[in-house]
Amino acid sequence: MDQDNSSTGDPSGDTDGERVVRRDEAVRAAVEQGLLRPDAPIVGLLDVTGIRESAAALRAAFDEVTAPGTPVLHAFAVKATPLVPVLRLLREEGIGVEVASPGELALARAAGLPPDRTVLDSPAKTPAELREALALGIAVNADNPQELDRIDALMRSAASRSPLGIRVNPQVGAGAIEALSTATATSKFGVALRDEGAREWVVRAYAERPWLSRLHTHSGSQGVPLSLMAEGVAATYALAEEINRRIGHPQIDTIDIGGGLPVNFTSDVTTPTYADYARVLKKAVPGLFDGRYGLVTEFGRSLLAKHGTVVARVEYAKSAGGRPVAVTHAGVQVATRTVYAPGAWPLRIAAYDGKGRPKEGPEVAQDVAGPACFAGDLLAQGYALPLLEQGDYAAALDTGAYYFAHHYAYNSLARPGVYGFAPDGAGGTAFAIVREAQTVEEIVAESGGAHAGALTTLRTPGRH
Ligand SMILES: Cc1ncc(COP(=O)(O)O)c(C=O)c1O
Repeated sequence: MDQDNSSTGDPSGDTDGERVVRRDEAVRAAVEQGLLRPDAPIVGLLDVTGIRESAAALRAAFDEVTAPGTPVLHAFAVKATPLVPVLRLLREEGIGVEVASPGELALARAAGLPPDRTVLDSPAKTPAELREALALGIAVNADNPQELDRIDALMRSAASRSPLGIRVNPQVGAGAIEALSTATATSKFGVALRDEGAREWVVRAYAERPWLSRLHTHSGSQGVPLSLMAEGVAATYALAEEINRRIGHPQIDTIDIGGGLPVNFTSDVTTPTYADYARVLKKAVPGLFDGRYGLVTEFGRSLLAKHGTVVARVEYAKSAGGRPVAVTHAGVQVATRTVYAPGAWPLRIAAYDGKGRPKEGPEVAQDVAGPACFAGDLLAQGYALPLLEQGDYAAALDTGAYYFAHHYAYNSLARPGVYGFAPDGAGGTAFAIVREAQTVEEIVAESGGAHAGALTTLRTPGRH
């Protein structure tokens, strides 16, 4: 299992090492097969084998710690990689979906995810979204008392088979990245459990609503240590136990522990692993795994990040102030977080030559720049790599989640094509298109092209 081998810290000869070999081969094949060429200077690549391995590792890790027969739904957080073929691939691997917007729900349905493998969480659900979810039988976690009022009204008007719960914020504190820490004292998510009166309100909410059967938390994403995530889950479990005890029967039958397993962006080693986290959880909250509760997980980044690579052609190689600068086609449009917050989101870059082969030669500190028209559009600054030259390729590694699937339309830069790859069985690499590259005609259409005269038809009275 990829995740277990990787904890050795040695990527050679294990499945992490095999992933590097597959990646190098895919970059070479992408150039050779013409996916990357002068007029298609950027692509996103997804390693199908690696995604399947991560899904299997997730299932195995929780199988290992749960009592036999415990229902466990691993619901992939669609926000991490909102691409329909990815959701379909994960479905085939036994993974459901966690959705947080009407768009994400539509993607999940297009991928064929059934309602009983779909969980809806979001802080701003409209009445229409709630009505649709309850009509479909999708699980919903209410974020706050006002949302619960809306659900009450819907439940009064029509029966629903949706499993329903409340999201709580255990307020256990922040991780290293404030913007991704959802369990701070003032986080916008869920019912802030330590606020005055909140715990009592939650207990009463369950006592008054026999149809509330789930409890949900998600303590944060990248930057939150496993111990803090486990603390959040432990606090949620303790609340479920208290609610069931005070109600007098096990009304809460499922605990949704959210996602958030951090990803190692500093090397090819997969660490921490799902097995690591499952062990930490089992030690911190043994009762969660004894078979009395079903489990839902909502991992996103950890399932996809290490299986995605953005590869971009070096259009020009120049020098400024004595520093080499490679101007590539990958920048803010595909690596928005890295460009705007490089300290929190550093990426590894790999150099390939014009034939897509790993570039050799002495390492030189250089800037790897994107195509956008602002100075900060840099994938990396002063990064040590074999010198990138015109016609080479730069690859931004570990970008399978929250990167190239999250296009940012600065400078009207086109969304790159995304391809999945896998060994072709004959020693080469086969590709399948996941998302077509956006055309300039589509950019014009999405930018009001059909309404070119719209503003000039509005005239201020009294002016010409
Ligand atoms: C409610 C919820 N669940 C799951 C996730 C997925 O987190 P990650 O991609 O870090 O696993 C998020 C991320 O924002 C979330 O808000």
